[in-house]
Amino acid sequence: MIPFIDINKEIEIFRSEIVSKINKVLFNAQFILGEEVTLFEATVSEMFGINYAVGVGSGTDALFLALKACGIKEGDVVLTSPFSFIAPTEAIVNIGAIPRYVDIKPETFNIDEDKIETAIDEKTKAIIVTHLFGNPCEMDKIVEIAKKYNLILIEDCTQAFGSKYKGNLLVVLD
Ligand SMILES: Cc1ncc(COP(=O)(O)O)c(C=O)c1O
Repeated sequence: MIPFIDINKEIEIFRSEIVSKINKVLFNAQFILGEEVTLFEATVSEMFGINYAVGVGSGTDALFLALKACGIKEGDVVLTSPFSFIAPTEAIVNIGAIPRYVDIKPETFNIDEDKIETAIDEKTKAIIVTHLFGNPCEMDKIVEIAKKYNLILIEDCTQAFGSKYKGNLLVVLD
């Protein structure tokens, strides 16, 4: 059987670093916030040149909290991709909002920016795009659409942390 993805291959590269960090947290028994989270937040905000970064428990939590912080509520429609991990849909449904899928592009499997506009109606309040397998979505067009229709734009960079779009790190958009 050929696995869909072989996560262990990548873990091998960082295994000793990951294990030593986990051991440090276990040794200090600081499982909530603490030195390591502070260090993570400082490293991320410096890396992206932003004022604040907030560490949370998981990628799913990050999406849920982003939707909540942006005021997305029951009955709102959030556009997203049908070809992603379950987390974006899960976060939208957990808020009580309605996921609406926009088809993907066969070249990258990312959301098709040319199909977003026809999916927007008066209930649409936000878009969650997933940069899948490290490949960035077409952000110029997506940002333009979000601005035109006054939509909140959330980027799921779980699979693309540190990826660049036209030379710039993802995440840092105005
Ligand atoms: C694209 C994408 N978004 C969100 C998540 C959720 O991350 P977590 O498992 O940390 O909740 C994943 C996890 O694989 C993912 O691949």
